[in-house]
Amino acid sequence: MATVRRACALVLVLLLGALAGGSAGSVPRWDNGLARTPPMGWNDYNAFGLGVTEDLVRRTAERMVSAGLRDAGYEYVNIDDAWMAETRDAGGNLQADPARFPHGIKALADYVHGLGLKLGIYADAGTQTCGGLPGSLGHEQRDARQFAAWGVDYLKYDTCNANGVPARQRYGAMRDALAATGRPIVYSICNWGAERVWAWGSGYGNLWRTTLDIRPTFDSLLDVFHATVGLSGYAGPGGWNDPDMLEVGNGMTRTEDRAELSLWAMLAAPLITGADLTTASAGTLADLTNPAVIAVDQDPLGRPATLVSSRAGLDVLVKNLANGDVAVLLFNETGTDAAMSWTVPGATAVRELWTGAASTASTEVAARVPAHGVAMFRVGRAGAK
Ligand code: GLA
Repeated sequence: MATVRRACALVLVLLLGALAGGSAGSVPRWDNGLARTPPMGWNDYNAFGLGVTEDLVRRTAERMVSAGLRDAGYEYVNIDDAWMAETRDAGGNLQADPARFPHGIKALADYVHGLGLKLGIYADAGTQTCGGLPGSLGHEQRDARQFAAWGVDYLKYDTCNANGVPARQRYGAMRDALAATGRPIVYSICNWGAERVWAWGSGYGNLWRTTLDIRPTFDSLLDVFHATVGLSGYAGPGGWNDPDMLEVGNGMTRTEDRAELSLWAMLAAPLITGADLTTASAGTLADLTNPAVIAVDQDPLGRPATLVSSRAGLDVLVKNLANGDVAVLLFNETGTDAAMSWTVPGATAVRELWTGAASTASTEVAARVPAHGVAMFRVGRAGAK
């Protein structure tokens, strides 16, 4: 009887552990050597929906260079859904839509590589993409070989029309097919947080979406943030929680845009801008390239922030950094300004990362934080490297 009770208690403990956020624990990490820090780049979907063209990708890549995004770390130029022709070719291969991509994907990859950037592409782990184009389920090896032959560096793999096949089976098949090509290809699992992907994602890919699609509203940002912030234990170098592409520049206020960038940096989230970079304002470009905020996102320790306090819509996140500094984010979800503060023991120097304001010798970081806004600090500590 006692043995049965002990066994039941053990099952309960394991179950609670599995439900409570926890960490990747028993899942062997899949290591393709890529994404040691969260991937950075651009993707067309948030601004253009199913409207991607070769011309847009070229002009965006050029803008990423001229506006300083490449030099700030944005590396991948990612094509989303609707690049394909409606049918495979006679040999069964995916082919680009000849009207939208008249020179094909290989020529585009060459062009993007010539600018010092990398090319990403989209496919679907089902029978059809979300836009109704050919899916890769059952064609994984052929399609992975095709992407590698074109010179693709990143695959976003979506989950529409899965026909009831379990996610791990579908995502595992493409993982193995990509590995078999021998080409380094970042593998982005886009299954909308289904089947608790964070609990197994690091055994399958380099990043995994934690939620359904983000929209360019503060409410959507809050939903995605709250769904992701508790999952920090699952992410680390090589495998990241993905709260979806950035909506900075797509219609929120500048305050909200900066909140999104700051939250994503604290979460060690991929920074894939979804803005129309060909028309983005100087303010949007400046925010996207803030080096101090990017440095928090890209910190080599790769440990996402912890939500250390959350009361009445006022949140404090703390992220440990590789050199012993800590990043502290004061985030005001509410509709009115608020005085916020947090104490960091041993603090020697404090810098606010959006204003650049510096102060010394205070263990308290404090700010009047605007509605929907943030104050983001990097705090040096005694004994830091
Ligand atoms: C899904 C994905 C989006 C985007 C669209 C394209 O909704 O989650 O990010 O790729 O499909 O159809």
